[in-house]
Amino acid sequence: MSNPTLLERRYRVLGRNSPLFYERPLNLVRGDGVWVYDDEGHRYLDAYNNVPHVGHCHPRVVAALTQQAAALNTHTRYLHENVVRYAERLTATFEAALSMAMFTCTGSEANELALRIVRECSGGTGVIGTAHAYHGNTAAVIELGSIFTTPDKRPPHVRTVPVMDPYRDRAGRSDAELAAAYAAAVKCEIDAFRAAGIKFAGVLFCTSFSSEGLPTLPAGFMQQALDYIHDAGGYFIADEVQSGFGRFGSHMWGYQKLGVVPDVVTLGKPMGNGHPLAGVIARRELIERFTGQNVYFNTFAGNPVSAAVGLSVLDVLHDERLLENARQVGAYTLGRLAALAAHHPLIGDVRGTGLFFAVELVGDRAAKSPAPAEAGRLVNLMRERGVLIGRIGPHDNILKIRPPMVFTREHADILVDALDGALRAL
Ligand SMILES: Cc1ncc(COP(=O)(O)O)c(C=O)c1O
Repeated sequence: MSNPTLLERRYRVLGRNSPLFYERPLNLVRGDGVWVYDDEGHRYLDAYNNVPHVGHCHPRVVAALTQQAAALNTHTRYLHENVVRYAERLTATFEAALSMAMFTCTGSEANELALRIVRECSGGTGVIGTAHAYHGNTAAVIELGSIFTTPDKRPPHVRTVPVMDPYRDRAGRSDAELAAAYAAAVKCEIDAFRAAGIKFAGVLFCTSFSSEGLPTLPAGFMQQALDYIHDAGGYFIADEVQSGFGRFGSHMWGYQKLGVVPDVVTLGKPMGNGHPLAGVIARRELIERFTGQNVYFNTFAGNPVSAAVGLSVLDVLHDERLLENARQVGAYTLGRLAALAAHHPLIGDVRGTGLFFAVELVGDRAAKSPAPAEAGRLVNLMRERGVLIGRIGPHDNILKIRPPMVFTREHADILVDALDGALRAL
């Protein structure tokens, strides 16, 4: 079956607006570690996907899934050792205060549940996000998805802070001044809710601010913001769907790098290595208060197979020392990406932590004018050269590089050499 035929069939049943990557969409049929293969046998280095967190089709994850699927799978209203063991193992990776888990099937559901929890526990409805965020697709969550919900369509109980962009916002300010300014922006929106007579419930941030462009934020910003949030009776929901499970190398959870302990944490993508497993971790008192007032049941979430998969992902992360790998290979990759800037004036900034990188493209380094067209062409050129990356940011001018955690120096060399070649070919 040739690709155009498959594409036409897809358009007919799923519509032309169902998103696909690349000018020539890929038909992937197989994966192995950091590699994926298309229907014609071409191999691509996956430097984009955090869902296959411990590598595509990791044999231990596949074995855990198939063995449990062969033994039993049920909905979640029976006792089963797997889900209890998984919840124990997972919560043990958090601070003692974050001691309870609830399971969902997607990051969207996790954020939906988190919003219900903070709204129930605060008695408020007002939630603050950022001006270029994505947190999922449910009715309540998409209201905070400022990428798709334009300001005129935003309901009064949702407010946003401007995208934090130290690369452009610095204006001679120290880190401490910038941190205070970003925290003050959160307070400003809390005050705006109060002025509008809307009770504040909390803040929902992706802890890597990934869609916003993966900014390198000044230390202390989030603690100051958290003080404002708590003073106003609200809660902080940390969305770890992109940053969690050791992506930053230095920490298991992205919020730890921000130097705070949130009230609620939402998990997704990497949690099941491709199996639909997601969840909420929160302070005991919040979950107990919420479940005391509301019944939460989810047919599939935390079933014996999902829990077996989740356990195997934690095992592989530990046994293959993948956080350490993210630190070491991440530092090497960042260094090589940064060195590219010496030859390519299009690169305005290179930043990142662990195995999460942003390469910001600008038409003019002094003016820092975004170069989205070049970013789009580069993503497609890279695909033609056998390396998968994406792009992010309010201007769509930032290359997003976020490979599976089993990325090695050799893979980094392939990535950076391909990027060098693609930049030359622009
Ligand atoms: C930060 C963040 N939160 C939540 C979600 C939603 O997750 P899901 O697609 O599993 O519903 C996404 C998905 O891209 C995300 O990037």
